[in-house]
Amino acid sequence: MNSTIPDYIQELTYYSGRLNFTEFLKLLSQRFPGHITFSTSFSFEDQVIAHEILGNDLPITLFTLDTGRLFAETYSVWNSTNEKYHTSIKAYFPDFRQLENFLQQKGPNAFYESVENRKLCCHIRKVEPLKRALQGNQIWITGLRAEHSPDRQHHELIEWDAANNIVKYNPLLHWTTEQVRQYIDLNNVPYNPLHDKGFVSIGCAPCTRAIRPGEDFRAGRWWWEDAGKKECGLHLNAN
Ligand code: ADX
Ligand code: SF4
Repeated sequence: MNSTIPDYIQELTYYSGRLNFTEFLKLLSQRFPGHITFSTSFSFEDQVIAHEILGNDLPITLFTLDTGRLFAETYSVWNSTNEKYHTSIKAYFPDFRQLENFLQQKGPNAFYESVENRKLCCHIRKVEPLKRALQGNQIWITGLRAEHSPDRQHHELIEWDAANNIVKYNPLLHWTTEQVRQYIDLNNVPYNPLHDKGFVSIGCAPCTRAIRPGEDFRAGRWWWEDAGKKECGLHLNAN
């Protein structure tokens, strides 16, 4: 596996700071035809990016990691996104053998029992499918936002993801929640109704709850675990 950081990363960093979001997405799609992909969890921020890509008919693929444990509301917004933009977002599912073994050995709710089980579940349901989804791509677009946690403030707009050997573009890294909301309203973008019920960061149903005013944005994710790095392993490239 080649893990050398490509030299075009500097050029991309330069342009990402000078072009607006739409212009830069266009540049990327022209520069890396067939090798640029966007991962969506159908969150607020992901819907902004989906609208930019699909509304402008940009040649960028969209995929989601269907863990099998998503909220019913998430499946609904996936469906309404397909319908609104006349598209069919690609789904990556966990490897059925790994998942069957895990369920057989640990049971369906093992993630509540230990951090080790939780991380294994995330690995099977998210991290391994992500690796398959990114294969053959040179640019991975995500909806990461710095506001979500102190760890996420260490990310860059354009960064090298050594774990996945790919250049990552996080266009909304510095957007505020208010900016995201305004964009969604202004452009009539379909969104997950859980965002109106106190859910900020939305993952799998058994591992996500609403947050109370003043709580950390990530407080609703794996809330039973001690504070620390509450990450599932998708985004490990921050310094
Ligand atoms: S996570 O690492 O805690 O699960 P988070 O929910 O904050 O991630 O989402 C950050 C970004 O990771 C999203 O904007 C999206 O690009 C990607 N992502 C997270 N979950 C998924 C998923 N199930 N399918 C596709 N992309 C995802
Ligand atoms: Fe499993 Fe929960 Fe991770 Fe989803 S968030 S993959 S259900 S541990």
